[in-house]
Amino acid sequence: MTQTQWTAVDEYINSLLVPSDSALDATIQSTIDAELPQINVAPNQGKLLHILAQIRGATRILELGTLAGYSTIWLARALPADGKLITLEANPKHAEVAHENIERAGLSHVVEIRVGAALDTLPQLVAEGQAPFDLVFIDADKVNIPDYFTWSLKLTRKGSVIIVDNVIRKGAVIDADSSDENIQGVRKFNTLLAAEQRVKATTLQTVGSKGYDGLAIALVVAD
Ligand code: SAH
Ligand code: DHB
Ligand code: MG
Repeated sequence: MTQTQWTAVDEYINSLLVPSDSALDATIQSTIDAELPQINVAPNQGKLLHILAQIRGATRILELGTLAGYSTIWLARALPADGKLITLEANPKHAEVAHENIERAGLSHVVEIRVGAALDTLPQLVAEGQAPFDLVFIDADKVNIPDYFTWSLKLTRKGSVIIVDNVIRKGAVIDADSSDENIQGVRKFNTLLAAEQRVKATTLQTVGSKGYDGLAIALVVAD
């Protein structure tokens, strides 16, 4: 099985189930034009996030790692008109590109981008009383995933969903001796997740147009 095949199958799935539109297309194009990394979630993964938010009936969503706003748009489209999505982004250029994309998608009324390192902006959210969020999508730097998960528990409540992207890393996650700090971040998170009594969690490996990776899904079962 090869990347070519995974991509072809994703294209087949997307052609049937995940129609694109001008706002999503323009967002992908903006990452190319602005030379941003092409590390947005795949279309069918974006729709998964959207569906999970709707299953949860989310009215407040928190995202860590905006990039150009591709996953932001999928998530924000799951919100009611009076809903709110706060997305945290460290890179001002990424935030600026995302701002344009979110405006083009007609989602400025529900989306707020906070520029800064998430470890700085997360405590502000707590201090401001922005909690509880119904869904948190963790997709920023991988080294700090353990801390992001701990903050997410402070910012959610029983019934909330916490989704963590990129927890398989081409299978490298099973290398306990990895010298890659991103892998060690993911491994530390997995240990935390396994020990955390307040959540019920599982992890799925995924293949597709974005390669071989995976995501963790945790349901908060106790405050
Ligand atoms: N969720 C996006 C992809 C995010 S890529 C999508 O699927 O469309 C990861 C993003 O996290 C990048 O834009 C990067 O600048 C940002 N990032 C990296 N370190 C960060 C930090 N410490 N705090 C907040 N954002 C960070
Ligand atoms: C990377 C980050 C992501 O969020 C992703 O989905 C894929 C790759 C990265 O930093 O390499
Ligand atoms: Mg990711």
